[in-house]
Amino acid sequence: MSKLWKGRTSAKTSALADEFNSSIKIDKRMYKEDIEGSMAHVAMLSHCNIISSADAKKISDGLKKILSDIDTGKLKIDDKAEDIHMFVEEVLTKRIGNVGKKLHTARSRNDQVALDIRLNLRKEITLINFSIDKLIALIIDIANENKDTVMSGFTHLQKAQPITFAHYILAYGMMFKRDMERLYDLYKRVNVSPIGACALAGTTYKTDRKYEAKLLNFDAICENSIDAVSDRDFIAEFASDLSIIAMHLSRLAEEVVIFTSNEFGYIELSDAVTTGSSIMPQKKNSDMAELVRGKTGRVYGNLVNILTLLKGLPLAYNKDMQEDKELVFDSIDTVKMSIDIFIEMLSTMKINKERMREDAATGFINATDLADYLVTKGMAFRDAYKISGEIVHYCISNKVDKFTLETLPLTIYKKYSKLFDKDVYKYINLETCVSRRTSYGGTSSKNIENQIKFLKLG
Ligand code: ARG
Repeated sequence: MSKLWKGRTSAKTSALADEFNSSIKIDKRMYKEDIEGSMAHVAMLSHCNIISSADAKKISDGLKKILSDIDTGKLKIDDKAEDIHMFVEEVLTKRIGNVGKKLHTARSRNDQVALDIRLNLRKEITLINFSIDKLIALIIDIANENKDTVMSGFTHLQKAQPITFAHYILAYGMMFKRDMERLYDLYKRVNVSPIGACALAGTTYKTDRKYEAKLLNFDAICENSIDAVSDRDFIAEFASDLSIIAMHLSRLAEEVVIFTSNEFGYIELSDAVTTGSSIMPQKKNSDMAELVRGKTGRVYGNLVNILTLLKGLPLAYNKDMQEDKELVFDSIDTVKMSIDIFIEMLSTMKINKERMREDAATGFINATDLADYLVTKGMAFRDAYKISGEIVHYCISNKVDKFTLETLPLTIYKKYSKLFDKDVYKYINLETCVSRRTSYGGTSSKNIENQIKFLKLG
């Protein structure tokens, strides 16, 4: 491919420099946006009488043909080209002749690349939100089926208090809902058109940036042409939002790994999303969850990478910025796949309700309720807390923890306080503990219904 910027220099660059300089392998992913942007540009040039409508039609038809030829595979994108912008323009000129050279009037690759990436990220934001929405819908289904599935809630990964599996999984639903909101908010900042900023200073042609932006469905245009071509804060923001999504997925992944272990056995993944060991025949490993957790590292890395590449750049465009796309595309692909694999994992997993209930019965997770019981009988919470703790200590040191608080004889309870009576057993029953937690956002089934309603509001 020839170099369209030949002029000031001979453009006789070395093979190594060409390879080092080229971004086509990454930015060819934006060929649709590049052509879509060029079509709007040529329409604007004609609308403003900068080029004739006959020329505009030739260029526009040529671009359309290039688009369909790439789509159908008739035209292969040349990996030796410098970038997608140069490739399209050169093919166009080769195909329609000199009139193709008019396309690049009143624009520069600096605003063109800023436009392409904004158009591309707009689509990606919508796609990712669509996937998160599916994940939330799945979480709602799981919650609906597990409003009464009692399990241990944990703090410090130590058994803490009884909750339901619905309550637990809905916590992730809330996180993913905020992830979507963050992306919706970002969309507003991405959906601003930089085209027409040209290299940095604007142009002497009587262009109409608003007209062009409207053709491309932008809500607004960048107010300052230098800012339009210099900043990539929306990319850093996207990479940051994706990092937060990856972080949420990674926490859930960690719990999938823990909960599928033999020791927990709370859930079992389908064979379709687990692997075996090449040596240990008994193994069923949660590799997909581990990979989601592992890939979070690269998503964080991409964010740090983007922030670092931007931090020392003088205004306006610098070639360093070419690096941004590879990074954000990698984060997008990684997060998209992670969400998809999670949808597959969660929709096919088996929830072992009995095992969760059985495990919840050990570990004294109703010790807080035991203290609350004494409070209902008139004792101050601090005193009740102490007595409840001493009873747990008694069970553990006398190795009667297998009896659990629910089965500890009343005679022993009475040794600790006269206030204990046989109604204590009903009070500390795990199902009762769950249904009594009716404070807003709590684990009772009424609350769960409200939380599901909240998530469904979208
Ligand atoms: N491939 C370049 C990029 O991705 C396009 C812009 C090039 N602009 C320039 N002045 N060399 O950033």
